[in-house]
Amino acid sequence: MEELDLTVRIGRMTLKNPVIVSSGTFGFGEEFEHFFDLSRLGAIIPKGISLKPMAGNRPPRIFETEGGIINSIGLQNPGFQEFMKNKLPYYKNLKTHLIINFFGNTQKEYVELARRFDDVPGISGLEVNISCPNVKRGGIVFGTDPKMAYRLVQAVRKSTALTLVVKLSPNVTDIALMAKSVEEGGADAVSLVNTFRALAVNIHTKKPELGNVIGGLSGPAIKPIALRMVWEVRQAVDVPVIGMGGIMNAEDAIEFILVGASAVQIGTANLINPRTGMEVIQGIRNYLAQQKIDRIQKLIGTFG
Ligand SMILES: Cc1cc2nc3c(=O)[nH]c(=O)nc-3n(C[C@H](O)[C@H](O)[C@H](O)COP(=O)(O)O)c2cc1C
Repeated sequence: MEELDLTVRIGRMTLKNPVIVSSGTFGFGEEFEHFFDLSRLGAIIPKGISLKPMAGNRPPRIFETEGGIINSIGLQNPGFQEFMKNKLPYYKNLKTHLIINFFGNTQKEYVELARRFDDVPGISGLEVNISCPNVKRGGIVFGTDPKMAYRLVQAVRKSTALTLVVKLSPNVTDIALMAKSVEEGGADAVSLVNTFRALAVNIHTKKPELGNVIGGLSGPAIKPIALRMVWEVRQAVDVPVIGMGGIMNAEDAIEFILVGASAVQIGTANLINPRTGMEVIQGIRNYLAQQKIDRIQKLIGTFG
């Protein structure tokens, strides 16, 4: 068989393969460099960045549950300035795309960050995390109100020419409506899902297992719900969909690609097996060869 073509297009980016490591589960990349050559990934998405440094939530911040973990890191990050000075230079020598995940407390903060990242060499795209409460509007989450999400994305769109991926929250009744709203706002792609709001109880202390009480569930437990959401979103929008939620191996990734994901993100699996990304790329290659398909693009959305 001829050389397999694993390339996929997301906005203005051409990824050498559809495997991306997800925000918050791969540190800033450096932490994983001893496990494999990071340049082999389709893209890297570092921990979410805000305008100012954030200390995060009180511990405990991670609790292991059946088939997953609940985390309440609280978006701890070094902030824009520190990221630019001490983290960004690391990516210069990597031959993969760097997609910056970011968030703000107000629309103004989102717009300001998008503008600041816009003309930075080495950054290929932005992933907007809209699962944040709008502090000005009494804590309403941007990602659960279609009108607010539309307005936010429209404003961010105007302040950057970079490929704009909007990361959707699964904590909504109608995920397709949210996807359509951000597409209309100007998103080049949508990524989903972020974590599901969850709670863990300790019956001995009669207290929550997490310092923040509520956290976000990720890992294999959420995969069937995430798959359903990706499938629904695929049918609702024209822009590329990036799927994630409980992908532990190549088979899981292929399920997402079949239901319409142009690319996938590996999250919690990185914490268990840091080489998961590499193994997923190899497993996708093997599957394509077995199926006698020469281009991954022929596989996307062929489910049903
Ligand atoms: C410890 C941890 C930290 C995370 N931090 C972020 C973050 O900063 N920004 C973001 O958009 N998503 C964050 N996420 C969500 C993941 O990127 C991903 O959307 C989610 O975990 C679902 O995928 P998975 O089941 O493969 O982990 C985090 C997840 C975990 C487990």
